[in-house]
This record gives sequence, C-alpha cells and structure tokens, in this order.
Amino acid sequence: MNTATPRLSARGLVKRFGPTTALAGVDVDLADGESLAVMGPSGSGKSTLLHCLAGILLPDSGTVALDGREVGGLSDRDRSLLRRQHYGFVFQFGQLLSELPAIENVALPAMLLGTPRREATDLAGRWLGSLGLAGMEGRRPGELSGGQAQRVAVARALITRPAVVFADEPTGALDQSTGHDVMRILTETTKAAGASLVVVTHDAQVADWCDRRIEVRDGLVRHTEAAR
Ligand SMILES: Nc1ncnc2c1ncn2[C@@H]1O[C@H](COP(=O)(O)OP(=O)(O)OP(=O)(O)O)[C@@H](O)[C@H]1O
Ligand SMILES: [Mg+2]
Repeated sequence: MNTATPRLSARGLVKRFGPTTALAGVDVDLADGESLAVMGPSGSGKSTLLHCLAGILLPDSGTVALDGREVGGLSDRDRSLLRRQHYGFVFQFGQLLSELPAIENVALPAMLLGTPRREATDLAGRWLGSLGLAGMEGRRPGELSGGQAQRVAVARALITRPAVVFADEPTGALDQSTGHDVMRILTETTKAAGASLVVVTHDAQVADWCDRRIEVRDGLVRHTEAAR
C-alpha cells in the first residue's frame, strides 16, 4: 500500500449554486506526478470539481489539501498566491492575452512570481522551442492556430514549475487529431516536469493519455478506474 501523502487530497466536497447541488460529497486523491482524467456528462459537476480542487471556488463543506496542508482556511490573497506559485491552468480557450505575443504570454506567470523579464523571456523561449513553436514567439494568439495556441497555453502553465496542472476541456475547441496532439504534449510535458495533472474531458481517447480516470455523475464520483 502506498502510504505517501497525496499531492492533492479532497474529502467530502459539497458545492451548491442556489437550488442546484453541483457536488454532493466528492473524495479525490491525486498522487505526486499522477495524471487524472475527469469525465462525465454535461452539467455533472466536472468544472465545479476542478475549480474546488484548484482553490478557485470554496466548497460549502469538505476540505482540499495540497501536500497535507488545507487550502480552505487561507485568505483569498493567500489562496491566489498559492495558485500562482503551485498551480498551472489550461482552459478551453481565452486564457492567453490577445494583445501580447506568445513569448510574453508564456513569460508573464514567471514575471508575476518575481523572475526578471530577461530571464523569464529566455525561459519562455526555451519552453516554446521545446513544444515545437520555435519561430512563433512573436505571434499574437490570433495569429496562431488553435492547436498552436494551446501549446502556448501549456508552456504558460508549466513555466512556473507547478505542483499541479488543472486543465478544463483543453482540447474542446480543436479537431480530434489536433486535440490528441495537444493532449499528448500536455500529459507528456506535465509528467516530465514532475507535476500532477487533473484534466476534464468528454473524450475517452483523450482520457487514455492519463494514468487514471474518474466518472462524475450528478455531483458524485460514480466510477473510478485505471485508464490503462
Ligand atoms: N456559477 C454557477 N451558478 C449557478 N449554477 C452553476 C454555476 N456553476 C455551475 N452551476 C451548475 O452546477 C452544475 C454543475 O456544473 P459544472 O459546470 O460543474 O458542470 P460540467 O460537468 O463542467 O458541465 P460541462 O461538461 O457542460 O462543462 C450544473 O447544473 C450547472 O448549471
Ligand atoms: Mg465544464
């Protein structure tokens, strides 16, 4: 039995929006370096779960701990600092700043943590190169394909060396082959960087890139299995 403290651990998560119970008591553990696919029908609570795990939303009850340290008791300011320092995010679209070139989009999270501009820009350039985007550093998001923009988003999520990357439908706006490409890059790069990954997806093939998957239905985890 593996007795190591999970990287991320949630217990009894309940989240209501008015009359809607989005999460009805969810437990999730995420091991160090593990990738987890969260599947389930539309409206089942996947995004709400991801937002609670990432400390973007506070649950009505239940706890979330990062490396054994509970996140719910932190002030809003400390929680956003924790997100900035320890988490990376990849969403379906819209997370890149449209007026900034790719390289500045990638460098920004590092600069927000105090890395000097030149160093952050050098690092961002290396990340873009390693994700196959050499030569595209100066392009703004609108000048990139959807798949290229998502690679920029992956670089942006990883530049701060986060403990956990959260991705909500990262391939939702892409065709299947481009989506699989991005997903392979996301899972491989996250693993190589030593980060854990939580990825919400409708696509069973996309879930196959992860170590494990859970199925959310009506705000509960109905089913959990090893993906491979
Ligand atoms: N901010 C909110 N205000 C009110 N209701 C909400 C809010 N966010 C989510 N809900 C409701 O909570 C439930 C779960 O929503 P959630 O976004 O977690 O579903 P999801 O599984 O991510 O769905 P999808 O696959 O369509 O993205 C839904 O009934 C939704 O309408
Ligand atoms: Mg959702």
